[in-house]
Amino acid sequence: MTASGGGLGLLFRKPTTWCILRADRYTLELIQKEQIYTMSYFPDEYKKQVLFLGSKSGRDSQKMKEVALTGIQTPSGDMTFKEARLIFECTLTQITTPGPQDFYTQEARDYINEAYNEAHEYRKYVFGEITHVWVTAADLP
Ligand SMILES: Cc1cc2nc3c(=O)[nH]c(=O)nc-3n(C[C@H](O)[C@H](O)[C@H](O)COP(=O)(O)O)c2cc1C
Repeated sequence: MTASGGGLGLLFRKPTTWCILRADRYTLELIQKEQIYTMSYFPDEYKKQVLFLGSKSGRDSQKMKEVALTGIQTPSGDMTFKEARLIFECTLTQITTPGPQDFYTQEARDYINEAYNEAHEYRKYVFGEITHVWVTAADLP
């Protein structure tokens, strides 16, 4: 799937990524099942493909096969794409589900409530320890 909400930093001394996933995302189910996953970043020229992956669910489509990107596997068997500029492979460490009472601005409460109305659960904050990083050679100086 495509996700714009996320970042990285240190969590409990471990290099960690985080992302915010709506509770009904098929990708969330896969992350919970496999407990390893990749976060891949693409150059602007692949915007169309990235938007395509964010336009329909893998639960009821073959979008990973339909998308005009080259699927590859990491040595651990994780899925990613050859065209990605930067790839983090992560091991799931934590999923938290903050509710409206955890936020201190109305804007944030509205944001979290909006997901609840659609998925009947609050958004999941997903944290993963970074185990591998790949950077494509084309972007190295
Ligand atoms: C630009 C863009 C950013 C998105 N960001 C997020 C996000 O941060 N979190 C999220 O849950 N869904 C986000 N989505 C929506 C998912 O990518 C979309 O619902 C996708 O179909 C989910 O696929 P899945 O059901 O196979 O996991 C975004 C979509 C687009 C196009």
